[in-house]
Amino acid sequence: MDTYKVIMSKLDIRQFDSKKVAAEVKSRVLEAARASGTGNNKQEWRFILVQEKEMLKRLAEDSTSGGWVAGANFAVVVLSDPTLSFHLIDAGRAVQNMELAAWDHGVISGIYTGIKDEKMRKDFAIPNTLKPVVVVGFGYPVKRIIGKKNRMPLPELAFIDKYGNKFDPKKLS
Ligand SMILES: Cc1cc2nc3c(=O)[nH]c(=O)nc-3n(C[C@H](O)[C@H](O)[C@H](O)COP(=O)(O)O)c2cc1C
Repeated sequence: MDTYKVIMSKLDIRQFDSKKVAAEVKSRVLEAARASGTGNNKQEWRFILVQEKEMLKRLAEDSTSGGWVAGANFAVVVLSDPTLSFHLIDAGRAVQNMELAAWDHGVISGIYTGIKDEKMRKDFAIPNTLKPVVVVGFGYPVKRIIGKKNRMPLPELAFIDKYGNKFDPKKLS
C-alpha cells in the first residue's frame, strides 16, 4: 500500500479475527519498532512480543482499559526509560511505526495505556529500570475496515506562520 493510504486508512481496532498472523509479519513489526528514531539515538525502548494465548489473557488482566487484547493474535508491550524526558515520544514513534508496518500487511491494531504497573512487572519479568508505557494488540480485522476517521478539520488544528493564522490550502506557497 502507498504510505499515505496506510496512514489515512488505519483505525484503532479492538476486535480481531482468529486467523494467525505469519511469523514474518511479526518480525517486520518489531523491525519497524527498531527502525524508529529516539532522542540522542538512546534506543532505550525494549519490546516484549506476547503471542501465547495464556500470556495475552494475562496482559488483559493486567490492564484497566485494554481487556480486548485477550482477543488479539499477538501484542507488543513497549517499555521505556522514564528518566529520559523524551521517553514517551520515543515510545510513541515506535508504536506508530509498528502499527503502520502491520497495516501495510492487512494486520490491524489498537493500543492502550491503562496498565496495572506492579502486576504487569511481575507477570512479564519487567526490570525496575524500565516502565511499561503502552501495549499494542495486533490481528486481522473481523470485517473490512472502511477508513472513516473522526478528526477535527485542519483549519481548527493547524496554522500558518503564526498561531491563529488558520490553515488554508490556498495560502500555501
Ligand atoms: C495516548 C493514547 C492512549 C490510548 N489509550 C487507550 C486505552 O487505554 N484503551 C483503548 O482501548 N484505546 C486507547 N487509545 C486509542 C484511542 O481511543 C484511539 O486512538 C482514538 O479513539 C482514535 O481512534 P481511530 O483512529 O480508530 O479513529 C489510546 C490512544 C492514544 C493515542
